[in-house]
Amino acid sequence: MTWRLLAVVCGLGCFSFEPAAVPAEDLASAIDHSMPLSTIAFGSCANQDLPQPIWEAVVATKPQLFLFIGDTIYGDTTNPEEKRRAYEKLGAKPGYQKLKRTCPVFAVWDDHDYGINDMGGEHPNKARMQQVFLDFFEEPDDSPIRSQEGIYRANIFGPVGRRVQVIIFDTRYHRGPLSRVNIANGYVGYMPSEDTTVPLLGEMQWQWFEEQLKQPAEIRLIVSSIQVLPDNHPLEKWANLPHERERLFATLRRAEVGGVVFLSGDQHLGELSRQKGVLDYDAYELTSSGMTHTRGNVPAPNRYRVGRPTREKNFGLVTINWNADDPRIRLSVQNEQGAMQLQKDVLLSELQPTGNSMNVQAESRQ
Ligand SMILES: [Fe+2]
Repeated sequence: MTWRLLAVVCGLGCFSFEPAAVPAEDLASAIDHSMPLSTIAFGSCANQDLPQPIWEAVVATKPQLFLFIGDTIYGDTTNPEEKRRAYEKLGAKPGYQKLKRTCPVFAVWDDHDYGINDMGGEHPNKARMQQVFLDFFEEPDDSPIRSQEGIYRANIFGPVGRRVQVIIFDTRYHRGPLSRVNIANGYVGYMPSEDTTVPLLGEMQWQWFEEQLKQPAEIRLIVSSIQVLPDNHPLEKWANLPHERERLFATLRRAEVGGVVFLSGDQHLGELSRQKGVLDYDAYELTSSGMTHTRGNVPAPNRYRVGRPTREKNFGLVTINWNADDPRIRLSVQNEQGAMQLQKDVLLSELQPTGNSMNVQAESRQ
């Protein structure tokens, strides 16, 4: 996000490896697939030069999986070796080491770990930077993610009837130029682009996404470092490329998949958004950011917000009660003491395309 803009407005500035850590590609075996995935934590925006006590609260939730969804480090540069040194600071954090002993970590970058603030596909060293990122997050040398352009990935966890698909987008590697607009004091925000040829995911990632949606799953957590639903703030968001945002919804509608929940970060606050009319059911998005710093009292317009946002340091939590006749998805955000900041329960039957609700209930009892 436009961290410098926030800095002006609010007056603020936005692995040594554990032996027991689980290589990312081994996640499928690290998580017992006979056990449904029911506790997924996530977070974003963690400055390695700041204290990170929040990891204790994350570990206390006993997550089966942690999604680290962007701005995993700060230190804006396109020099991969400088980034590598910043990752060493994160890797040395005792709390982060404890998390790695607790559960597997899936990571994707946003602008500050990818390159510099708000950067897209113009990054001159993005291929080398991808390897630095994957090195730190212990992606095996032979992982196919190392040979693709961008670090998008998808996995399905859990038995038939209780499957969770985690789909993680790379919103940086292929993103084209945004339409800039002056906001105040010479600082720049973004407005919706009228050029429908500007990419966000890139064609290869779109094709990959469509293939993932053909895989059966009851719940699909779709992870984007930047926000998907909010469209009336001037910072980075899918709505700056409205044709790509609509393509996302159209792809999901066409695939007739249920159980979709979006997860995002980047915004330096925690909030829940709900938009009607873009999917065949209400679209929910849980945003958690940041783990070491937030935006304070800077205005944060969001016409789709449900309830109040949290401006405390936070992490997100998705818990799923598979034992209910109608599985319940609890979307919440907690602060660094583990105190609940916002919470919303959504029934899986509420997240179904027309005519699909009975299928979910029947399968969930298997
Ligand atoms: Fe960001």
